Amino acid sequence: MPNPLYRKHIISIPDFSRAEMELVVETAARLKAKPRADLLQDRLIATCFFEPSTRTRLSFETAVQRLGGTVIGFSDAASTSTKKGETLADTVRIISSYTDAIVMRHPKEGAARVASEFSAVPIINGGDGANQHPSQTLLDLFTLHETQGRLDNLTVAFVGDLKYGRTVHSLAQALSLFGAKFYFVGPEALAMPDYLCEELDERGISYTIASTIEEVIPHIDILYMTRVQRERFDEAEYQKIKGQFVLRADMLRHARPNMKILHPLPRVDEIATDVDATPHAYYFEQAKNGVYARQALLSLVLNETV
Ligand code: CP
Repeated sequence: MPNPLYRKHIISIPDFSRAEMELVVETAARLKAKPRADLLQDRLIATCFFEPSTRTRLSFETAVQRLGGTVIGFSDAASTSTKKGETLADTVRIISSYTDAIVMRHPKEGAARVASEFSAVPIINGGDGANQHPSQTLLDLFTLHETQGRLDNLTVAFVGDLKYGRTVHSLAQALSLFGAKFYFVGPEALAMPDYLCEELDERGISYTIASTIEEVIPHIDILYMTRVQRERFDEAEYQKIKGQFVLRADMLRHARPNMKILHPLPRVDEIATDVDATPHAYYFEQAKNGVYARQALLSLVLNETV
């Protein structure tokens, strides 16, 4: 029987069942422990990035090449015929006729879903505006499992930009299938969107809105820091908000021994560099895990069995 992700578009975390997320995490762990070089042999993957990226694009490209596949694509839409007015639908139709899958990042919410309606091959959403970033969530789940030994019943604090942070939205939705408990810490102007709080209420997931990082640290397994996204603000508003929630090493005195700090990166100044040397910092390992999680995802989408 083919695996349940075979030939599926990967658009949004709510499309995933708990078992499908566990399958990606298990496959990533297997590929990290025992690398494979053959799972994408003779496969050509397009990476189409209409928005800047370091980790998502390069870890997908690393994943493809280490599994024996090849990559084409672009990292600047201005170098494509989008600049001449070609629609996303036509761009996707054409690229899907050349390749076996398309990894796409786009500034507009819903762009990946639209692309999936015009693509002959699976679309993998590499982030669509402030909406979803499912491959980030899968690598986050893999990292949670690696550091905590489980996904069930974790206590997680999300800090920073909870309004525009697509990684926060995707991860909160994913963990709501595993009985998590949440703390939300951030400026009022960047609070978690109502629709997400309503989803958590419907699933009976407990969340507490806290005003400082220090007050939540003794109670949590995971501190998930995020950047205030300058590109989504006007400059005056950004200057008012930035720097309000900054983590320093001296704030970690009362952390549980198992507590790990994650961040989807890039960071600006929300984690001071003195945190990097503490045993709680795990964000660079998290970014490295992006290769294994994306290897798992691509392998499952492009092979009946892995
Ligand atoms: N975490 C993440 O999406 O990083 P990039 O923007 O560098 O891809």
